[in-house]
Amino acid sequence: MSHAEDHDSTRRDFLYYATAGVGAVTAGAAVWPLVNQMNPSADVQALSTIRVDVSGVAVGTQLTVKYLGKPVFVRRRTQDEIDAARAVNVSELIDTTSENPNAPAGADASDTNRTLDEAGEWLVMIGVCTHLGCVPIGNASGDFGGWYCPCHGSHYDTAGRIRKGPAPQNLHIPVAEFVDDTTIKLG
Ligand code: FES
Repeated sequence: MSHAEDHDSTRRDFLYYATAGVGAVTAGAAVWPLVNQMNPSADVQALSTIRVDVSGVAVGTQLTVKYLGKPVFVRRRTQDEIDAARAVNVSELIDTTSENPNAPAGADASDTNRTLDEAGEWLVMIGVCTHLGCVPIGNASGDFGGWYCPCHGSHYDTAGRIRKGPAPQNLHIPVAEFVDDTTIKLG
């Protein structure tokens, strides 16, 4: 039985993963870094900065965009997700660093150091598992209601912080900022 099957993720999620990544689910290949190296298309490489229109992203949903050859998750969190993330004591975490280049150097993994806005509604992360590079499943997946990587069973919470499984670090955050109310600039 695969990790995907023994977890309660839906068949649809599993198929999404298999389609988006590669067939070698159990091998857990470093999908995105490899793809990135093999397909350094000129247009992607040239776009070191992109702007993402988030006006259509409803609360409780996630937009995935491709940036520098990797998926970037833009999640508009529910109040429950925000509250759950903010209730966690940093000392409970596997990775206590923010993994956020937009936060001050040395910032810890408190939820407020992970989000793009003060209210904590917007969470922008590179959608690459920090174990071996698979793309985690979103839509409030996993034991902590955030993201779940079916390759080897890594569970991320609603702030994208690793909580269980082999991944050593929180999902990384790209350089990002709001340039107006509905536009996020990556890079
Ligand atoms: Fe191994 Fe995600 S790549 S758990």
